[in-house]
Order: sequence, then structure tokens, then C-alpha cells
Amino acid sequence: MQSTRNQLIQLLAKNKEDYISGQALSEELNISRSAIWKHMKELEKDGYEIEAKSKRGYRIVSYPEKISENTVRWGLETKWLGKNVIHREVTSSTQIIAHNAAKEHKGHGTIVIADEQTSGRGRMNRDWHSKKGDGMWMSMILQPSLPPYLAPQLTLLTAVALAETIEELTGLTPSIKWPNDILFDNEKKCAGILTELQAEQDQIQYVIIGVGLNINQESKDWPEEVQQRATSLQIETGKQWSIKQIMQHFLKHFEILYDTYMQQGFLAVKTKWEAYGFKMGERITIRQLDRHRQAVFYGLADDGALLIKNDNGSVERLYSGEIDW
Ligand code: BTN
Repeated sequence: MQSTRNQLIQLLAKNKEDYISGQALSEELNISRSAIWKHMKELEKDGYEIEAKSKRGYRIVSYPEKISENTVRWGLETKWLGKNVIHREVTSSTQIIAHNAAKEHKGHGTIVIADEQTSGRGRMNRDWHSKKGDGMWMSMILQPSLPPYLAPQLTLLTAVALAETIEELTGLTPSIKWPNDILFDNEKKCAGILTELQAEQDQIQYVIIGVGLNINQESKDWPEEVQQRATSLQIETGKQWSIKQIMQHFLKHFEILYDTYMQQGFLAVKTKWEAYGFKMGERITIRQLDRHRQAVFYGLADDGALLIKNDNGSVERLYSGEIDW
């Protein structure tokens, strides 16, 4: 059941350019006109700018900066992604909420966002620092009709959408370190992706793509060891950013790329990924068990693996193994 407040916002949002009369709202929501007026005052306290004109009614002029179901949806230029938003002010991890939601059949395109995560999860069981108002902490539920072995391509796609968003908004061109870390020229990381899969043998049931983007942190906000390797958009650009705006841009980039990928396959993603690829065409050191060797980072394979070219000219796929970037 949606709250009256949310229904009210949604009615106003539908009539973006137009006024909607107090009478119409009161009939639609089955509450008195004075109750409508009280809700409007509450919305204003929350940062909504509402215009009230006699004989015409109410109109939302602008939404508050803070993230919520309504503020993220307002002005979101996507067709299917983020139309269903689950927002928590504080949660352990948006990944957990997203898994539960997917099990309850909250469908394809649902996003889970939080202001703050108390146990944000990174890859390889690492922690992900996710303090309030500092970044974009989001998990997307997707149900692609794909075999599970192609899921890594979705991670690469997500990295491209993040890089495109950062580039569009800040004018800075980040790099993507295989498979999915977003770095700036100083080789510090500002974003990471965690893809978790529920699948049968030959079909993905759902995939949760978790995206963490550091936005408004200053270096001193992290423990010292994190400061050495982490950065944020604020550190790189010297200004604060609207998390809501970044989310909306990211969702749009992601949706366009995802739709292209589902229609045309991986090639478009691969080409874009390689254009952002960290150390593409350079020599890298590969550590496998007790062996160290050098090869040229040659590009991405169709399945998302890393392609290296050995000194004897042979090209090899790498799925795991550590790389000394
Ligand atoms: C990485 O280790 O690089 C991946 C980090 C992923 C962090 C995001 S933040 C939103 C979502 N919820 C989590 O707990 N983790 C992911």
C-alpha cells in the first residue's frame, strides 16, 4: 500500500506542467481539501517547491536534492530502469535488500538505493565504505534472458555506463581497470561494481548489479589505508555533486547500453570498454601461482575475459590470476 503522501506526489508528478485542483486531488485520494493543504505544507518542509494558484490548484516546481523513491523518479529519463525504486535511509547493504526483493518477484529494472550502508560489500569479501550522503549506493535487479556464463559482460557494461556518466558530468575521462574498477589518472579508485547471480544451469534467473560511486567524500573521511587507493568526484573536481542527478544520468546511460547489448550483442560494449581500458596496449605483469610473466594487454575477449599477447605472438585469455597493473 502506498502512503497518501506518495500517491499525492505521484499525482502531481504526472501533471508536471499543469496545475491540479485541490478538489481533484481530494476526490482522487479520498481525503479533505484541508488535509491536502496540510500535506502540501509538509512537502514544502521536505524541500519540495510547490506552487499554489487560486482557481487552478497545485503544481510541483522542483524536488528536493535528497534521494527518495519520488525524487529519483522525477525527471528520470529512462523507459524501464528505475521505474520501481526501493529507498532506505540506512541499510546494511542494498545488495541484501535487492536479493530479497528479487525473491519476492520485484521485477526487472527495480533499483534499490540507500543514503547509507552499514555493511557495504565489495568484491572478494572486502568492505565498501558507504557513509551517508557521500556516494551512490545502488543495486539493480535485472532479469536478462542470458546464460550465466555471459554475466561478466553485464559487469563490463556497467563499468562503461559509469565511465560515460562521470565523463559526461565532470568532463574528466576515467579509466576502467579490468574487470570493473573506475580510476582517475592518479590511479585511485572512485567506483566499484559487485555482480551477484542467481541462475539455473543455462539461464540467469536474476542478477543483482551493485554499484558504489564515491561522490562527496574528502580524503580524511576514509581510514589511512583507504586514502592511498580511493578517490571521489569531489576530490577530483573540487566541488560537491548531486547524488540524485548522478543516479539519474547513470541509469540513463546504463539503460541505453543494456538495450543495445540485448539487441546487438557485446561488440558495442567491448569497443567502448576498450576505449576506457586502463593500460590497454601496454605491458602488464601477470602473477599465476608462483609464476610471473609479462605480456601486452591486448583487449577484451567476447566473453569478457582479458586478452593478452605473449612475446611469441600468441594471444591468450585470462579469467583469473592477479595482474600487477
Ligand atoms: C568493489 O569491490 O569494487 C565493488 C563495490 C560495490 C559496492 C556497492 S555499493 C552498492 C552495493 N551494495 C553493496 O553492499 N555493495 C554494492
